[in-house]
Amino acid sequence: MKFLHYCTTVLFCIALICCVANAWDWTGDIVFEDNFDGTSLDLNKWEYQETCGGEFGPGNLQCYTRNNVAVQNGNLVITARQERMEDKNFTSGRVRQRNVGFTYGAYVVRARFSRGDHLWPALWLLNLNTDCRYEEIDMAEYRGQRADSNKLIMAAHWGKAYNQIKSTYTTGTTPEDLSLGFHEYAVLWVPSKIEWYFDRQKYFEASLTNGTFTSDPNILPCRGGPTPYTDPSNFIFNIAVGGSFFSQYPPMDPSTWTKPTLEIDWVRVYQE
Ligand SMILES: *[C@@H]1O[C@H](CO)[C@@H](O)[C@H](O)[C@H]1NC(C)=O
Ligand SMILES: *[C@@H]1O[C@H](CO)[C@@H](O)[C@H](O)[C@H]1NC(C)=O
Repeated sequence: MKFLHYCTTVLFCIALICCVANAWDWTGDIVFEDNFDGTSLDLNKWEYQETCGGEFGPGNLQCYTRNNVAVQNGNLVITARQERMEDKNFTSGRVRQRNVGFTYGAYVVRARFSRGDHLWPALWLLNLNTDCRYEEIDMAEYRGQRADSNKLIMAAHWGKAYNQIKSTYTTGTTPEDLSLGFHEYAVLWVPSKIEWYFDRQKYFEASLTNGTFTSDPNILPCRGGPTPYTDPSNFIFNIAVGGSFFSQYPPMDPSTWTKPTLEIDWVRVYQE
């Protein structure tokens, strides 16, 4: 019995060491938080981004409207719909954090993605002032195609403007269908690197010091120094519909839209 107890303890310790080594416990102070527990979007923390084109996805098929954004059952819910608006055949929602942005820290979002062809839910960060300096961190992007149900896209785009950037990205394979359950998506952004986490396991990293972003002098920002990712940034959450992200995929069949929603349970920013 004593031996068995000893074994159990050792195994427990090994398990603990293994998980501590691979996982991340978010530390520091929570400097921003929303648990979406009310019945409407807190407009002190968020703004609707409503447009049918322009900067927000000229190649996409949706208009963004506030009618497609709700807070209910403890979640922020963004819904894509097949309905005409202006010259588009689909509507969807996009919100951005307002009044505040942060440089560095742990950015954590608990969310569930959509299911349906050509639905493109995204949790991302963008610098507040993109004049002459563009800093985008895609915490998590997803394609609603059933064949891609376990695929998680993580990316960083940095440079002079949205179309003059250096990019690094990966497609990770997760153990789950990301439309079926809630998961924790996070980036840890420190001066030397950005790391991407899925359910507290590290999936990807980008160095901010080894030239990944700065090797092409033509795309360097014309505001601020040549060090990547130094601007204050904040959250954007949306579902885009269609566009170049799906150019390698068969045409959309809207009957596959069995769950055209992105649900966000909570969001936090931690800083040391
Ligand atoms: C919207 O759908 C109509 C048919 O209902 C089609 O003629 C039109 O080209 C579509 N618009 C776009 C932007 O795809
Ligand atoms: C920079 O570091 C990243 C990992 O953070 C690595 O994947 C990449 O190959 C490195 N690039 C160079 C040019 O060393």
